[in-house]
Amino acid sequence: MGHTLTTMFSKQEIELRVQQIAAEINDHYKNSEEVILIGLLRGSAIFLADLSRLLTVPVILDFMATSSYGKTTDGGEVKILKELDEEIHGRDVLIIEDIIDTGNTLNKIKEMLLLRDPKSLAICALLNKTSRREVDVFVNWQGFSIEDKFVVGYGMDYAQLYRNLPYIGIVNFDK
Ligand code: IMP
Ligand code: MG
Repeated sequence: MGHTLTTMFSKQEIELRVQQIAAEINDHYKNSEEVILIGLLRGSAIFLADLSRLLTVPVILDFMATSSYGKTTDGGEVKILKELDEEIHGRDVLIIEDIIDTGNTLNKIKEMLLLRDPKSLAICALLNKTSRREVDVFVNWQGFSIEDKFVVGYGMDYAQLYRNLPYIGIVNFDK
């Protein structure tokens, strides 16, 4: 579909916010031995790369990929396409996500991971579309709360494109 992009957050705005979040995360985990960062593929890859390099607590990087069976809007099942490599039992875990929309994906992932009995489980999301929420998900750290717009860049895609944009853009679909 024809579309144009307009900037929502510039590279500089993102960089500044990521630094602020990293400082808060560093403070929160200052007495932890290590934290397992779980990047949800593929959208969190860029955010995870930038954020993790600003962390001072020892971190382990792991990744998980999921897809939803049918409509997530029915709270449908979330299928694991790539399982974690790390055992998270008794360990500090921080999920890194690009954007929370209805909340269904993170809610299911959180439920699944809690069954493995981690020492702690927290969520860090770059963007939060709060008005679209269908299920409550507690977000420990968030970059920006945004309006209900379709956004791309800094890891996020439209039809798998634009993930590499250094800024976050709004997709304006042609009428
Ligand atoms: P949820 O389960 O409805 O919260 O969906 C969250 C997932 O939908 C995110 O991890 C993204 O992959 C995708 N998503 C939601 N909104 C956007 C958007 O505006 N741009 C790109 N991907 C989005
Ligand atoms: Mg995603």
